[in-house]
Amino acid sequence: MLSEAQRQAIARLWARKVEQDAQGLARALRHRNLEPDSAEFLHALAVGARARRMLEIGGSSGVSTIALAAAARATSGRLVSIEIEPERQAEARETLRELELLEYTELVLADAREVLGRYSDLDLVFIDCEKDDYVPFFDLLSLAPGAVVVADNIHSHQLTAYVRHVRSRPGASSITLPVGQGLEVTRLPEAKETR
Ligand SMILES: C[S@@+](CC[C@H](N)C(=O)[O-])C[C@H]1O[C@@H](n2cnc3c(N)ncnc32)[C@H](O)[C@@H]1O
Repeated sequence: MLSEAQRQAIARLWARKVEQDAQGLARALRHRNLEPDSAEFLHALAVGARARRMLEIGGSSGVSTIALAAAARATSGRLVSIEIEPERQAEARETLRELELLEYTELVLADAREVLGRYSDLDLVFIDCEKDDYVPFFDLLSLAPGAVVVADNIHSHQLTAYVRHVRSRPGASSITLPVGQGLEVTRLPEAKETR
């Protein structure tokens, strides 16, 4: 479970996200954070799966980063959080520091397409970036047997091509959950399940 301090930090980021949306700010100025319910789910899934090598694409100012870094603490694992926009990542860094989660997190300031090749044997990946990139980024992942990949905005952005793509992966099982804006949760087969 997330701690009270972690929930409060998520609630603060979420309140500002709602305010930014209400103000009608340009897309580039909005932080587009993950729903708190989705963050709770992501955290529980990562801890329950005992995921140790975790990676997210699109950390923004850090809602999902808090959820996964807290999971990394619980599993003695580590989170790689990739974000392309420096100010949002700087804010996430500060929040993680306050929550004493920074030591479980590698914050990578980069375009994910340039750095995904560095990471292998991933147990859990969260995809929450530009929607046209979901399929190519999924294909760039080096996943461990039995890995879980979660993608946000399935309902809000009609991500049918992504859903079709992950469900066509041999041996994978995948379901869209009505949590937040819709989460596609895809599990790869264990090595022995591929036979
Ligand atoms: C929907 S927001 C992520 C929200 C975040 N997961 C949270 O829980 O607060 C999408 C983020 O993806 C970042 N992004 C978009 N394309 C990217 C890329 N190619 N590499 C890394 N980050 C990217 C954007 O800068 C933006 O901050």
